[in-house]
Amino acid sequence: MRHFRVSGAEFSNRQPHPSETYFGRLRTNASNDDYAAVHLRYHEIRGIWVREQNKRGIMELLKPDVSRFSIGEASFVIDISPGHNRRPSDDEAFTIVKTPDFLNRYIGLSKTLRPKSILELGIFQGGGFVFFDSLFSPETIAAVELDRTPVAPLMDWIKKHPGRFAHFGSNQTDSQLLKRIVSDELGGALDLVIDDASHLYEATRLSFETLFPLLAPSGHYVIEDWAWAHAPLYQGDKAPFAGRPALTNLIFDLVLLHGSTPFIAAINIFKTMVVVQKATAPAVPNDFWSLIRNRGKEAPRI
Ligand SMILES: C[S@@+](CC[C@H](N)C(=O)[O-])C[C@H]1O[C@@H](n2cnc3c(N)ncnc32)[C@H](O)[C@@H]1O
Repeated sequence: MRHFRVSGAEFSNRQPHPSETYFGRLRTNASNDDYAAVHLRYHEIRGIWVREQNKRGIMELLKPDVSRFSIGEASFVIDISPGHNRRPSDDEAFTIVKTPDFLNRYIGLSKTLRPKSILELGIFQGGGFVFFDSLFSPETIAAVELDRTPVAPLMDWIKKHPGRFAHFGSNQTDSQLLKRIVSDELGGALDLVIDDASHLYEATRLSFETLFPLLAPSGHYVIEDWAWAHAPLYQGDKAPFAGRPALTNLIFDLVLLHGSTPFIAAINIFKTMVVVQKATAPAVPNDFWSLIRNRGKEAPRI
């Protein structure tokens, strides 16, 4: 049993119940501010889990206009400027390419999800990686990035925290690599996938095809920015991705798969991302797409 104090309130964690593995329970009548402080304190005391009992969740939602924020030891600068000419991560802060809308969706998920292993596709400057690591505190987290240049502050983070892995110069379409990461680095388990890589239909579908069978029962598979084809910037012959199939086609595929098979428990479609929750049973075969039943008709394609 460990005890510590924050803002005059005293906290302790009890021995975790086997079904909770990590989650101790606060014994206190502390205020909401104390709970927020405890959340930050938790990140300083790795190994001790505290769980808030207030209804506001373990991390406050970010205000819509926030541009910098911290979780525990990690600081973030939001940079969503178009193209790749964004602020590089440095010793002060990781650059993260997510608006508060995206970040708040994950903060909301963190109230109920306790992923032990996470795989992120698309690292850029490492902000997403360190955000997921700090928010969910998994046992292991790995990520792949097409760009060959390692991000130095991320590599420093990885050196300091065991069970963290980054693969630069790696394509999300490399099924063999993704399978190897799950077996060798994530201990054969996969609780949460976040695909924020190419946003192209074929590559995103291929990653899903590789990883969905490996996802744990009730695991979650997030695909960000599925709605790019519907944004004003992406209309017309000269727009980015003009001529490429919309990522929306994968949403169609997922709906058809959900209707045809017992493999998906739920699909939550938000403007920022789609969150697919795997069902608890049965095992998903590698050729699961072939099980879609369409009454012989063509599905819509855009
Ligand atoms: C939107 S950024 C990722 C941002 C990061 N997840 C974050 O939250 O800060 C997309 C990244 O995916 C990478 N990418 C693009 N296509 C890829 C592919 N086929 N495989 C792996 N990474 C890819 C890009 O180089 C880029 O760095």
